[in-house]
Amino acid sequence: MPQPTSVLVIGCGISGLASALRLQAAGYHVTIYTREPPSQTTSNVAAALWYPYRCAPQEKVLAWSKVTFDELMRQHAAGVPGVTPTTFIELFDTDAPDPWWAAAVGGVTRQDREALPPGYVVGFSATVPVVETPRYLPYLVQRFETGGGVIVERQVSSLDEVGADYPLIINCTGLGARQLVNDPEVFPIRGQVVRVSNPGIRRALTDDEGPRRISYTIPRQTDVILGGTALPNVWDTTPETATTERVLRNCRELEPALAAAQVLETRVGLRPGRSAVRLEVERMRTAVVIHNYGHGGAGFTLAWGCADEVCRLAHLVLGQWA
Ligand code: BEZ
Repeated sequence: MPQPTSVLVIGCGISGLASALRLQAAGYHVTIYTREPPSQTTSNVAAALWYPYRCAPQEKVLAWSKVTFDELMRQHAAGVPGVTPTTFIELFDTDAPDPWWAAAVGGVTRQDREALPPGYVVGFSATVPVVETPRYLPYLVQRFETGGGVIVERQVSSLDEVGADYPLIINCTGLGARQLVNDPEVFPIRGQVVRVSNPGIRRALTDDEGPRRISYTIPRQTDVILGGTALPNVWDTTPETATTERVLRNCRELEPALAAAQVLETRVGLRPGRSAVRLEVERMRTAVVIHNYGHGGAGFTLAWGCADEVCRLAHLVLGQWA
């Protein structure tokens, strides 16, 4: 019987895990190399509301985000922990057309100003998945390991270093791709969030362009993630007190019930920004690489769609070798 083909995935955030699981399900023997333990990746900090945020190009993002929307809804129905369909309203202070991503979620409902917090004239609502990362990511890790996958905590400095052992490599290193494959197009987009106790909030709100930009309130089971910032090319991961105060003030205006919430922690994550997601095959000297990085603020919104495409490309590459 032929041995299953060995594949190396570099990176253990949501893009790496989803790619690894899809490849594993397709019969490949998958190893993940990760610089940080799975519990310490940037994905752990993500607010993880389904929302194609700070990512491009629109046409591809629409297709990947629709696949991911359907997959997360399917996972919720199957009882996967940490995936909750949630009412989401995108807020605007001037009239606006339906959002470009509406088709991915089966359409949006236009909300008039009476239904919205003060300062907004239109909102677009849809039911979308919120992923509670501390419950969901360990579940994916466990599924991967139970399926025979191996996770190794190891920093990879160059693809040549691993190409001799793994002729097929999936590069899911996010911001790390800047160094690993020398891609100057990858840049950090600093995000600061405040995690507070949940006083009973059930809907998610975002204001990205209006009077409180950038603000969002994303409820989970027992807490709410409040944001935020989106500062390009800022590498500092130290939380700023003034930002925390601004986030709390704005979010309490959006959801007055938050006045009763207890501040639990403040966290900073560096989103992997890029002018366009890089999902393509590159033939190197010793190996073939499938790049899957540059998802901006949409790792959880694109992960399963991109993972399916990684899998298709892997079949294609290996078919050419056979
Ligand atoms: C963020 O990257 O901060 C974000 C992404 C999706 C929804 C809300 C916030």
